[in-house]
Order: sequence, then C-alpha cells, then structure tokens
Amino acid sequence: MGRPRGGEKQRKKEHYYQAAKRHGYRSRSAYKLRQIAKDQKLLQGVDRVVELCSSPGGWTQVLKEIDSSLQIVAVDLTTMPPLEGVKFIEGDILDEKIIERIETLTGGTVDLVLSDCSPKVTGQWDLDVVRQLSLVEGTISIAHRLLSNKGKVLTKVFQGPGFPEFLKSVRKKFNSVKLIKPDASRKTSAEMYLLAIGPRGRSPHSVS
Ligand SMILES: C[S@@+](CC[C@H](N)C(=O)[O-])C[C@H]1O[C@@H](n2cnc3c(N)ncnc32)[C@H](O)[C@@H]1O
Repeated sequence: MGRPRGGEKQRKKEHYYQAAKRHGYRSRSAYKLRQIAKDQKLLQGVDRVVELCSSPGGWTQVLKEIDSSLQIVAVDLTTMPPLEGVKFIEGDILDEKIIERIETLTGGTVDLVLSDCSPKVTGQWDLDVVRQLSLVEGTISIAHRLLSNKGKVLTKVFQGPGFPEFLKSVRKKFNSVKLIKPDASRKTSAEMYLLAIGPRGRSPHSVS
C-alpha cells in the first residue's frame, strides 16, 4: 500500500471542510457519522445516547438532526458550545468520577454509546496509537457497563500495534462486531470505526 498522496488527501479534506461550512456543522467528521448512521440504521430503536469525546459537537448536531427527541449526554475534555436538549459533562472519559456522573445523568442505561476520541497528537505514531487505544478500551468498558442488552457502541479505532488483541477481546464481550470505513474517512488512513452490538457476559442483575 502506498503512502497517502498529499494532493488527494488535501482535496478530500477541503471537500468535507467546505461541505461542513455550508451545512453549519461544527466538524468535518459529522459526515462520517451521517454515513454510518444511514448505512447501519444506527439510530433505529435508540432513545438514550452517550457521546464520548463529543467536542466541538459535529456528531451531536447530526444526532439531533436525525432525531430531535434523542436524550443525549455528551462528554469531552474541552468544553462544547451548548446544543438544545443535550447534557454536557466536561471531563476525562477515563476518570471513574466522570463515568459515575454519566451514570447518574443517564439513569444508568443507554441504547447507544458513540466515541470519536483522538488523543492530543504527539507526532510519534506508535505512541499516538497506544493512547488512542486506551481511549477506545475505556469506551468499550463504559459501553459494556451502560448499554441495554441490545445496545450498540460505535467507536473510532486505529489499526496499529495492539489492535488485533483488542479486537479479539471485544468479540468476546459483544454478540456482533464489525469494522466500518466511511467514505468521508481517507482510504489511506489507519482510522476505522468499530460497531459492536449486544453486550454479553454481564451479571444477571445488569441492565436490560
Ligand atoms: C476528533 S474530536 C471529536 C469530534 C466530534 N466527534 C465532532 O464531530 O465534533 C476528538 C475529541 O476527543 C477529545 N478527547 C481526547 N481525549 C479525551 C479524554 N480522555 N476524555 C474526553 N475527551 C477526550 C478531544 O478533546 C477532542 O474534542
């Protein structure tokens, strides 16, 4: 596989940047969620959503655009300009106290967990991938704890060191797992989205 060609990468970036500007989306990645939501019928049967790493709120806008009645709790390290009907928590998704606040605000059960986390990039690819993986592992752990029995989790992942083992562990925890590459994500980037449905292996008193 060749390295990303600067021109191609730039053109795609520019295309989605201009489109996001026209639509009033806060981020280009709004298009990734739009595509996945449509193709995977992601919001079917969904009322309650937790969105991890939500700022500046492009995904949240898409959620509200598709279904304005969704109950959304959004979380990010950096603040997010308010959106009607969205409860926002400023904090680290890996912090147990923040997870407890999510539990309190959602009532303890949700139908969908979304996560588009990216760590602050250091420029050292291996280190960045390891940090991203720890955010994804945190996402999976929160999802496994909060999801209803038929609940879904969609999370950004990067295929790099540690990814095959991670994928194996997710397959053990969920009934169905698939990897998705939306068109709005550059073909040459290691970024993908993982969709897992139906947490399993929880204690009998877990959420339903
Ligand atoms: C690519 S952006 C998300 C874009 C968002 N999906 C949108 O459409 O606007 C990644 C976000 O991850 C957040 N983030 C990174 N590490 C985090 C952590 N430990 N806890 C909470 N948020 C985190 C960053 O602050 C950043 O806002």
